[in-house]
Amino acid sequence: MSSKSINAIVILTGAGISAESGLGTFRDKDGIWTKVNLEDVATPEGFARDPVMVHEFYNSRRQNLQNAEPNAAHKALARLEAEFDGDVTIVTQNVDDLHEKGGSKNIIHMHGELLKIRCGNCGSVREWLQDLSQDIPCPACNTHGFLRPHVVWFGEMPLLLCDIEPALSNCDLFLSIGTSGNVYPAASYVSQVRQLGRARSVELNLEPSEGATLFDECIHGPATEIVPAFVDQLLA
Ligand code: OAD
Repeated sequence: MSSKSINAIVILTGAGISAESGLGTFRDKDGIWTKVNLEDVATPEGFARDPVMVHEFYNSRRQNLQNAEPNAAHKALARLEAEFDGDVTIVTQNVDDLHEKGGSKNIIHMHGELLKIRCGNCGSVREWLQDLSQDIPCPACNTHGFLRPHVVWFGEMPLLLCDIEPALSNCDLFLSIGTSGNVYPAASYVSQVRQLGRARSVELNLEPSEGATLFDECIHGPATEIVPAFVDQLLA
């Protein structure tokens, strides 16, 4: 596929793009949700029940993330954004910062960011690299017990949907990389794009996702191999 007829590309990414950087995926064998109960650590109810456990879970992931490096797939997407003569928007379900570290600029974090915290009292959001606990007061409003990771939990509304919708409507190429297609609304984006009838859709994943049959084309293999090869072809 050449980029000549393409003006705008939307790239949906999921945990699979960061797997080869050493960050765990969720639903694969040995995935995070096979070891930890998501209702306990990824819901507002779980946080209300046991904030100490929830903070421990995200503190450990925050520490791991700070030792992780972007891989060839993240870097290839940054190269695509830099060299492609049109718009490239990454819509990521990942809370890691590996797209940023890999050099991408136009990134929408629909499930939030692990290296940020939010105050449930005043709503302020700030970068946070250390451990978080119930004892730490909000630096903005000075109340205790309201700080939480700036990540979207099940039952909460994903972020920045108002930026994602127009990007999906305007794109000519929709790529879905490293996501199992289990979590909505991200899982519905391929159908949305199909209905509009203007964009070609391509899945790049280790194996067929839940929605694989909805894509115009599927390329299966490790992200560090198939994403750079796809970008090379697109930019050729
Ligand atoms: P999943 O763990 O559900 O899916 C990861 C996908 O990546 C699977 O389809 C794997 O086959 C694929 N994969 C694994 N290794 C790969 C590799 N090296 N190269 C390419 N693909 C690979 O993760 P997500 O789809 O991202 O949300 O999960 C979506 C959301 O569910 C997450 O954002 C998170 C989770 O619960 C929240 O926490 C709100």
